[in-house]
Amino acid sequence: MNFKAFSITISLIIFTRLFAIAGEGMWIPMLLQQLNEKEMQEMGMKITADDIYSINHSSMKDAILLFGRGCTSEIISKDGLLLTNHHCGFGNIQKHSSIEHDYLTDGFWAMNKKEELVNPGLTATLMVEMRDVTSEVLNGVKENMTENERKKLIKVNSDSVTKAAIKGTHYKAIVKPFFKGNQYYMIITEVFKDIRLVGAPPSNIGKFGGDTDNWMWPRHTGDFSLFRIYVGPDGNPAEYAEDNIPYQPKYHFPISLKGVEKDDFTFVFGYPARTNEYLPSYAIELITEIENPHKIKLRQTRLDIFGKYANSDPKVRIQYASKDARVANYWKKMIGESGGVKRMNGIEKKQDFEKKFNEWAANQNGNYGGLLAEFETIYNELTPLNIATAYLVEAGLSMEVVSFANRFRALVTLSQSKSVDEEKIQKEVKKLQSRSTAFFKDYYQPIDEEVMRAMLKIYNENLDQTYKPDFFNTLNSKYKSNYSEFTNYVFDKSIFVDENALNNILANYKAKSYKKIEKDPAYIMANDLITFYETKVKSQRTAYNHRLDSLQRIYMKAQMEMQPEHRFYPDANFTLRVTYGNVDGYYPKDAVYYNYFTTLKGIMEKEDPDIYDYVVEDRLKTLYQNKDYGKYADKDGSLHIGFAATNHTTGGNSGSPVLNAEGYLVGVNFDRGWEGTMSDLMYDPEVCRNISIDIRYFLFIVDKFAGAGYLVDEMDLVE
Ligand code: ARG
Ligand code: GLU
Repeated sequence: MNFKAFSITISLIIFTRLFAIAGEGMWIPMLLQQLNEKEMQEMGMKITADDIYSINHSSMKDAILLFGRGCTSEIISKDGLLLTNHHCGFGNIQKHSSIEHDYLTDGFWAMNKKEELVNPGLTATLMVEMRDVTSEVLNGVKENMTENERKKLIKVNSDSVTKAAIKGTHYKAIVKPFFKGNQYYMIITEVFKDIRLVGAPPSNIGKFGGDTDNWMWPRHTGDFSLFRIYVGPDGNPAEYAEDNIPYQPKYHFPISLKGVEKDDFTFVFGYPARTNEYLPSYAIELITEIENPHKIKLRQTRLDIFGKYANSDPKVRIQYASKDARVANYWKKMIGESGGVKRMNGIEKKQDFEKKFNEWAANQNGNYGGLLAEFETIYNELTPLNIATAYLVEAGLSMEVVSFANRFRALVTLSQSKSVDEEKIQKEVKKLQSRSTAFFKDYYQPIDEEVMRAMLKIYNENLDQTYKPDFFNTLNSKYKSNYSEFTNYVFDKSIFVDENALNNILANYKAKSYKKIEKDPAYIMANDLITFYETKVKSQRTAYNHRLDSLQRIYMKAQMEMQPEHRFYPDANFTLRVTYGNVDGYYPKDAVYYNYFTTLKGIMEKEDPDIYDYVVEDRLKTLYQNKDYGKYADKDGSLHIGFAATNHTTGGNSGSPVLNAEGYLVGVNFDRGWEGTMSDLMYDPEVCRNISIDIRYFLFIVDKFAGAGYLVDEMDLVE
């Protein structure tokens, strides 16, 4: 290589690094102006931090809502039209679905406001304001307090701050720790309670690619659904009522028809749930090399069993569809996460940092000297307890009959009480009756039997005697570790697999009936699991975790002191954040490059009428053949489906708006690329990508595919 080529290569490397690194970080909206505005504008943003977050005038934050309890949604019309992911609206779409109206399969479109569907219990939460309340919350907190004393005082202080803040309003307020409890912010919110379903594409669009494509780029999923916020006639949040009216928001997002190009500036505004970017190497090792592999193996075993039955029986496939999706989602995430940390030498990177940290700490009057050594000790002690917990949850309670029986513990406790409260008992019985209906509707016993045999075996072979619940004594002595015989005994004897017998007991339930439940083999297993946890694991684990809370708080503070020039962002904690980056593809492995966008052609390439995840409807095919994309086509003539960018997102960012330099909506976030799923622990600008649906595909489906153009008329499209 000649010198010129060499220096170009070097400057290219430096350039791409500087350029891409801007993707990392989940920033607090009220601090954007101070910390990020300049950089965002240098990266291409044409608006100001004040346009994004202001409490003095309307701003974008007035159009972002926490959807239900786990997703983000955004307002896209002056009549409160709310956009989120299909997988976020899934539960509600499912609740309205029946054999006659299978909205999951066929999609749903309200052709006018009267046809919109009510969703009892569904809420959307708007952040009204956030305030730094660190000094109030830490008032009276002393360094020498125990973690418990500290937590208690913080709770008392927080309660009085929030109470004062919302007095005389219909708002809610909550105080949350930031930077591991070094700072506290109060979040004031308004909760909307009448959220109606407006539209959802059929599953073969909204879930196209299913779990096969989940967490993967290139992606072709039309993962969106549409709702509308209603309020009382006075404009305030209200429970559903017929005379409720569409909410008139302070702000709604204009929608860009321009699409995105490589390197374009974008930002994502939403509710990331949890990240852990400031952990010591010991924690990363425990998560990625010990806990994840155990959990992955347990989930893999279950998924293989589900798959075997689901593929041979369509009814079972439907029964286990959502269980399978739940298990598969984090199974795949964990594989990606552990692989990603390994690939970026994440543990070594943390260790290198820790070496420097210790050198620095040596000159800090002994304040932080023993910190990392103490982390090491605690994580070592915690390891077997966390493994035991993982088995309890991922093996013990993954046996459906056992976790179902576990639901009856409250009833047994009530029935055993000295002063039996009949009313409470009957209330609990009612709850269990409806739970039982739901359980048996989606229960297929042969799967559960096979899961039990497999789980007992892995549990038995992988855990030390000390970490096994009592029923393993029966299994190993009386049944001589014969998993099939033990399983047969449980299923022969348990009432929890016999719907009629169970309903009978519940229908005629008297306090004394608990004796039948108490003797049930599945109930005994459940009881043993929980008792084991409560007596042998829980209190030790809590003690270690309290110790870690305190260490982590000090370590966070120390890291910030050690690098005063570094700009820190707090870990995600389900509060509103802004993350920004660039539209970009990536190299998932040597010599392979993934482009930054996908098109309808890719859907046709993936099409397979015999595979459930890859069915394409004729209607979509016709639109493709006729290139009938209207104004939603890209300037290259194709229809773009999704795009990848370097925005640092995580779970909870599902449904978040992806905005361009002007602040117009260009996409809806719904996933991350597999190679980058370790960004919850460590962000790598080379491969960490968020995945969004191109907003034009959403418009195309609503308008051209579903014929619900009247909804598009309601939106502000920008050419
Ligand atoms: N991976 C995305 C997220 O974490 C999508 C999940 C949808 N569920 C599924 N199993 N495909 O939420
Ligand atoms: N699908 C995730 C969610 O439901 C977002 C993907 C991620 O974790 O980045 O929030």
